Amino acid sequence: MSDDTNILHTVPVNLGERSYDILIGDGLLENLGAHVAPVLRQKRVTIITDANVATLHLETARTALEKAGIKVNDIVLPAGEATKSFDQFGKLLDQLLELGVERKDTLLALGGGVIGDITGFAAAVLRRGVDFIQVPTSLLAQVDSSVGGKTGINTSFGKNLVGAFYQPRRVVIDIALLATLPHRELQAGYAEVVKYGLIDDPDFFSWLEENGEAVIDGDREAQAYAVATSCKAKARIVAEDEFEAGKRALLNLGHTFGHALEAECRYDGTLLHGEAVAVGMVMALEVSMRMELANLADLTRLTAHLETVGMKTKAAEISRDLDADRLLAHMAQDKKVDAGEIVFILGPIGGAATHKGIDLDLVRQVLHSSIKG
Ligand code: GLY
Repeated sequence: MSDDTNILHTVPVNLGERSYDILIGDGLLENLGAHVAPVLRQKRVTIITDANVATLHLETARTALEKAGIKVNDIVLPAGEATKSFDQFGKLLDQLLELGVERKDTLLALGGGVIGDITGFAAAVLRRGVDFIQVPTSLLAQVDSSVGGKTGINTSFGKNLVGAFYQPRRVVIDIALLATLPHRELQAGYAEVVKYGLIDDPDFFSWLEENGEAVIDGDREAQAYAVATSCKAKARIVAEDEFEAGKRALLNLGHTFGHALEAECRYDGTLLHGEAVAVGMVMALEVSMRMELANLADLTRLTAHLETVGMKTKAAEISRDLDADRLLAHMAQDKKVDAGEIVFILGPIGGAATHKGIDLDLVRQVLHSSIKG
């Protein structure tokens, strides 16, 4: 049994025999052993984390697991996106084999999106598959990357081009960990929260207009509600379309534009993923408006809300020389290109849908006006 004293929300992800729960609460790390024990096949866990998170949380996680009688190993990887490489992945697999990780052992990803993605992919292939648990420490990972089983690494051709759909056995989200995040990272992760309002939940978008600042300012109750609502939305979409044959593509709202902006900034810290997604969501809404799929009021609301929480909304605010044609060329390389056509997620607030065959001149105009400000 889990010690449920600090659990505020339990969100099921319904995927038949791959179903699992997302536990959301305040202070869950301190009782991590009790929260993960029910899903362990044997009481042996290898924690995979990065150097930054290790300093903050590794000792607490290790002690909590040991307190529940679990044998613990840990592997600390370098922090940052460069860790999602073939080189680091190979080293990680060697380390896991050296530690003698067995088929019934469990890997535990303690960190942000990078750690979750590389750990999940290692779990998918090590001895043809071992269990893994996600303990996301960033807002971005808590509301998006830790849920739904997308795992993988980057190649010189682009991000996340090699990987597997491989579901965790449980996701344990401790809202208290958000207090240790740099403010900019918290803000960037918040873009993915806004995304769920835009996709199909206009009431949640209105709630965020009222409470978004509290989420960013560290109000734990508001954070728990925002994370739980985001996880419920993601769980619902993933349950309908685990392998992204259709509806799951909606989770890509703002991302085709965002990935192009990130690629132009060369992942050098100029623009965080969530910051790129925020600008990308505004671009998507602007395309929607010009196609009469949304109205100006929607665009004004989104822009005003992102500004209220201190986020960039235009490419002009990014300190880089950007060019509409170069951005379009990146967009044409996106993983989600289908039969040569860029897939766009468009529509009003709360009514997103997938569109293909969009007039690229119109998209170019939107990119251009965002760059010019
Ligand atoms: N982050 C998008 C997805 O999980 O499908």
